[in-house]
Amino acid sequence: MLFGKTIVVTGVASGIGRRTAEMAGQMGATVIGIDRSPPEQSIGQVLIGDLSTPKGVAAIADALPERFDGLCNVAGLSGQSGAAETLAVNFFGLRALTETLAPKIREGGSVVNVASIAGFGWRQNAARAAAIARTTGFPDAAQIVADHDIPNDAGYPVSKEILLVWTMLAAHQAHFKNRGIRVNAVSPGPVETPILQQFREVLGDARVNADVEAVGRAGTAEDIAPAILFLCSDAARWINGTNIATDGGLEAAVTASAYGF
Ligand SMILES: NC(=O)c1ccc[n+]([C@@H]2O[C@H](COP(=O)([O-])OP(=O)(O)OC[C@H]3O[C@@H](n4cnc5c(N)ncnc54)[C@H](O)[C@@H]3O)[C@@H](O)[C@H]2O)c1
Repeated sequence: MLFGKTIVVTGVASGIGRRTAEMAGQMGATVIGIDRSPPEQSIGQVLIGDLSTPKGVAAIADALPERFDGLCNVAGLSGQSGAAETLAVNFFGLRALTETLAPKIREGGSVVNVASIAGFGWRQNAARAAAIARTTGFPDAAQIVADHDIPNDAGYPVSKEILLVWTMLAAHQAHFKNRGIRVNAVSPGPVETPILQQFREVLGDARVNADVEAVGRAGTAEDIAPAILFLCSDAARWINGTNIATDGGLEAAVTASAYGF
C-alpha cells in the first residue's frame, strides 16, 4: 500500500508512533522517525528532536530530506506536564513542523494528525479552538493558555479540539491544497500505551474504565496504525479535512449520549 513512498512519523519511540513506523515499513515505505527519546528497538532511521520549541521544530525540519510523501503527526503529551507544554507539543509544534515541511511534501502527499476522542468537545468550544487554530507561527503557549484561561487539567482536551479544527482549516490552506496535499486526523479512544497510565492519573480510573467498558476493551497501537497508514496511502486520495474515529465505536456512543438518541 505504501511501496515506494517515504513516510515521516513523529513519536516513534513508543506506542502508536512506533507501531505506525513498523507497519509502514512492512507496507513497503521508507520510514524516517522522529522522537525526543531514542527508540529502544531499531525501527530504521530516527532523528532525535524536540517538538516543544520553535528551535526544536526548525532543527527537525532542516534534518529531513527535500522530498517525502507523508507526515504522520503522532507524538503527543498527556497533559500531565501542564497546559502550556501540552499545547506546545500537541498543537503548536505539530502545526509548525507541518507548515514548515509543506514544501518538502510531494504533490498528492498526505498529512495525518493523531487527535483523540478527548477533542470531541470542539463543537461546543469552536470559537476558542478556531481563535487558537488561526494564530500563526509558533506562539508563546503560556501566553495563549493565560489569554484563554485554560486550566492545566483542560490542556489535553483543548489541544486536541484545536488540532481537529486546524485539520479542517489546513485541508483548505493554499500551501497544502494547491499541491494536492491532504490533511486528515485519526482519533483513538483509550489505547494500551504508556500514555494511558498518565491519562488514568489525570482523568481518574473511573472515567477511563467507563470509556473502555463502552467498547469492550482498550485499543492497541496495532488497531490505530492501519487507519493512519490508510490515510497516507493513495487509496485515501479523495479523503481530505476529515477525522476518522478509530475507537471501537466510542465516538458513536458519546455522540448518541450527547445528542440524546
Ligand atoms: N494511548 C491513548 O490512550 C491515546 C488516546 C487518544 C489519543 N492518543 C494520542 O496518540 C498519540 C500517541 O500517543 P501514544 O499512546 O503512542 O503515547 P506514548 O506516550 O506511548 O508515545 C508518545 C511519544 O511522543 C513522544 N514525544 C512527546 N513529546 C515530544 C516532543 N516534545 N518531541 C518529540 N517527541 C515527543 C514521546 O517521547 C513518545 O515516544 C498522542 O498524540 C496521543 O495524544 C493516545
